[in-house]
Amino acid sequence: MADTLTITDNRTGKTYDVPITEDTIKAIDLRKIKVEDNDFGMMTYDPAFMNTASCRSAITFIDGDKGILEYRGYPIEQLAEKSTYLEVAYLLIHGQLPTTGQLSEWQHTITHHTILNENFRQLIDSFRFNAHPMGRMMASIAALGTFYPESKDIFDPAMRMKQIHRILAKVITIGAFNYRNSIGMPYAYPDNDLSYTGNFLNMMYRMTETKYTPSPVLERALDVLFILHADHEQNCSTNAMRAVGSSHVDPYSAVAAACAALYGPLHGGANEVVLQMLTEIGSVKNVPDFISRVKSGEGGRLMGFGHRVYKNYDPRAKIIKNVADQVFEITGRNPLLDIALELERIALEDDYFVKRKLYPNVDFYSGLIYQAMRFPTSMFTVLFAIARVSGWLSQWQEMLDDADQKIARPRQIYTGPKRRDYVPAEKR
Ligand code: CMC
Repeated sequence: MADTLTITDNRTGKTYDVPITEDTIKAIDLRKIKVEDNDFGMMTYDPAFMNTASCRSAITFIDGDKGILEYRGYPIEQLAEKSTYLEVAYLLIHGQLPTTGQLSEWQHTITHHTILNENFRQLIDSFRFNAHPMGRMMASIAALGTFYPESKDIFDPAMRMKQIHRILAKVITIGAFNYRNSIGMPYAYPDNDLSYTGNFLNMMYRMTETKYTPSPVLERALDVLFILHADHEQNCSTNAMRAVGSSHVDPYSAVAAACAALYGPLHGGANEVVLQMLTEIGSVKNVPDFISRVKSGEGGRLMGFGHRVYKNYDPRAKIIKNVADQVFEITGRNPLLDIALELERIALEDDYFVKRKLYPNVDFYSGLIYQAMRFPTSMFTVLFAIARVSGWLSQWQEMLDDADQKIARPRQIYTGPKRRDYVPAEKR
């Protein structure tokens, strides 16, 4: 048996053998299929990359039918239970779990890069108080790159790693400083004695106390949420990171572009919209009516449900439900939880959702936890972005080191007018 695909072009009667590797054929191999010698050759048409692998990747594995998610081979359930976000970030970036020595050096390095240049405050001060946190995040990360012109040197391994440290470290400071600015509070500077998430909570919420002590339960819950959001293979924002990074721009610009992709309500913006949806539904008794409106197309989508890849329960949503219970024990139960549970119960029994394999995704419950932890709804996507930075950067590195990759440049099928002559305005 040969590992080839034989294609017969019925326009010409010619037959072609195309090599198959890993259940995949290379689109470029179709280029030799032509009717006339001077034809461009055959292409594939795949809007939204529904069935196109844009890269080979050794970072994240998803089996959408079975509901499996693994980072570098480690099941998400084990990482969420036993690891920390910074250890997972190391795993994603370096490919292996760190030794004790490597982990403490990594934690030390990230912790000691959290300070922002003081000039950066002026930039944050210049946003309007009500500017959306994701708009602030995108602009801030792009602007951060202007402080490090050497970051353009993306093929120097040490320089590249330095930017990775800086971005991982400073996103929490950027997120928190922008929040403090929006509520008119003085900035709370990083405290190097705290963990990554503890430090973030410190910069978000410290008031007049000299030392902020985060609740260990909330600190751990946030850490688990960051682990769950750290990477998700070739999603919209990662694709943006890789596509923009493929032009060899500095990583700050590429991360800003990935943030822009994440901001949309069909992607990372969904957690914010889920909360708005739950608030609008208002009460458990309104759930059946809301579901009917979704099914008839009048009520929009059931946000936080469905996924391009998962056609089963999103494994992250299962873990988040447990985290929610732990958080609500400290913060008190979020009253919107009952509405969410009822939505899930009805949807999982309803033919419309069952037939389309629509299950709760990562965003369905995460917002309820963030709200209980006092994060404003508009900041939910920022929390997603902070965690996803580790995934974006590991995918960016992998792309730069991959000899198969070139500047991203899809083809198109031109559907516009045939060549025609310009007509002066008075004759149109
Ligand atoms: N509520 C109601 N119907 C839905 C939903 C939903 N949430 N999601 C998909 N459908 C229906 C859709 O109308 C279509 O029905 P039909 O075949 O009758 O036209 C069918 O299911 C397939 O939908 P699709 O839009 O072709 O699926 P997709 O793979 O292109 O979209 C998705 C995936 C996540 C964009 C979509 O499920 C969605 O819009 N969900 C709500 C937004 C959301 O929760 N996004 C977060 C995703 S997880 C985190 C992340 O990636 O950032």
